[in-house]
Order: sequence, then structure tokens, then C-alpha cells
Amino acid sequence: MADLEGNAAAKKFHVETPAARFTQNIRGAANLDWGMQNRLSRILDPQTGRTVMLAFDHGYFQGPTSGLERIDLNIAPLAEHADAVMCTRGALRTSVPPATRAGLVLRASGGPSILKDLSDEYTAMAMADAVRINADAVAVQVFVGGEHESRSIRNLTTLVDDGYVAGVPVLGVTAVGKELVRDARYLGLATRIIAELGAQLVKTYYCEEGFEDVVAGCPVPVIMAGGKKLPELEALTMASNAVRAGAAGVDMGRNIFQSADPEAMMLAVRAVVHDDVDPADAHELFREATETRVPA
Ligand code: R5P
Repeated sequence: MADLEGNAAAKKFHVETPAARFTQNIRGAANLDWGMQNRLSRILDPQTGRTVMLAFDHGYFQGPTSGLERIDLNIAPLAEHADAVMCTRGALRTSVPPATRAGLVLRASGGPSILKDLSDEYTAMAMADAVRINADAVAVQVFVGGEHESRSIRNLTTLVDDGYVAGVPVLGVTAVGKELVRDARYLGLATRIIAELGAQLVKTYYCEEGFEDVVAGCPVPVIMAGGKKLPELEALTMASNAVRAGAAGVDMGRNIFQSADPEAMMLAVRAVVHDDVDPADAHELFREATETRVPA
């Protein structure tokens, strides 16, 4: 090597060493373009292949629901514990600091409020704005079996087409109407349809029976939605069961921001999702953190 010293023109191509091959731990992503894989890696931790996503997009149809009255005060500070946040562009631009490091999943469908049929949605943002905001993915509700099923599928496929142009992945959300049963048969149907129509990520509810079949039958990462507020131990147990059944993490809202201690709950969920901590032990972490911070 001595003859290379001080010789700026010398080159070393390591001809004996094969070119690097980069493989990612993301289901179904191997053939995606670099930019799309890079964005997915900002949502799914490359170390674990999982995500703890903090959802606070509820206001787009529910208004200021409990826990989301002041996103700037109560929610934005939690983002540092999230792999990604999921919200509307309105909430983001008004209430979340641009210096936030978490990945960003932007709600891109909307229309009806809780006063009307929720399946009556349209796409509600242009992909160009998602790119301008620097989104890592856009999210769209898909109402399989709902009154406006076909339009919601059209919303999905339009965003998928635009997402391929821009390199932005799409998260398809199984929106289960009140009249439908959240069992493995329905969730398996909905998640598979969403993935086959091009979504790179799917979010769905957990079901006690057969969730592993739902995950196995979906060729892209399945992220568990939180659902209504449960006692913390129950929510942690559900998250643990979901990742043990193969889910690529969770996207939780009410079970975090309606918790007695949202920050402690974020940390407990992280322990379950990324470190496979037993839910009872994670609940103990939650309890200890809560007691430390909130005097009795
Ligand atoms: C609902 O339409 C939104 O997609 C929410 O982000 C999603 O339901 C997750 O929030 P939660 O855990 O409160 O159900």
C-alpha cells in the first residue's frame, strides 16, 4: 500500500470483492424503486422490520375527539418516541414542528363526517402535496363491503398510480363498517384485496382467531390498528399478539393519546413491538413510568 501514499491518482476497485447487495426486511418490497424502499425504511425500523406508528388523524372525520383537542400541546411531543406519525396535512402544517424526525404517513382520503356514511370518501390530497410535505407514505381508507366500496378502491388505485410516479408508498387501511364482522375471514379478504391492488403497506384491526392467517395471506407488511381505548395491559397484549402473529408493528391512536400517561404508553408499546417484551412486563414499565411522573 506504500506506493499509494501521497498518490492522488491511485485507484482501488477491490475487484475481488463482489458488489454490495442490499436486502431489506420488508415484505414485498424487494422489487420497488430505491426511493420507495427508502421511504418504507423511515416507517419500518430496519433493525426489527417493525413500526410503532402514532395515529392522530381522527379529526378529519371526528373533529376534536378526546385526547386530540390540542395536537400541538399533547401529541407533537410524543412524536420523538414514534417510528412514524400518521396524520392529516392540516394537523401537520399547523401543529407539528417541521424538525420532527419521525417518519410521516399522511391521510389522503376524506369526505364524510361521523354524521354521514363514512364510506363515501374521495381522495383528499394530491400526491404533489405529499411530496412537497416530504411524506414517507400516504394513507387511504378502503371500505370492502361498504356502500361505496368501488369508489374507495378507486381512491386506493389512483393514489398507488400517483405514488409510483413520485416514489411514495401507499398505506391501505381496512375500514370496517359497523355492520361487518372483524374476523379473520373478512380481514383476510380486505387486506389481500388492498395489497393486490397495489398498496405497499396495509393497516388492519386485530382478531383473536386466525390473525396469523390474515398476515400470511397478505404479501405486504400488515400493521395492526389500535381501535377503541382499552385498559393498558389489554392494549399491550393485543399489540404483542399481533406482532407475534407476524404483524409488522402497530398504528395506535386512542390507546396512546387517551391513556392516563401517553408517553409511558408509547414506551411500553415500543418495548412490546421492538424488543418482544412480554406484555405484563411492558405494563410494569408503564406503571413505573406513570408513578414516577405523576405523584399520587
Ligand atoms: C381511523 O380512521 C384512522 O385511520 C386511525 O388512524 C386508526 O383507526 C388508528 O387509530 P386508533 O388506534 O385510535 O383506532
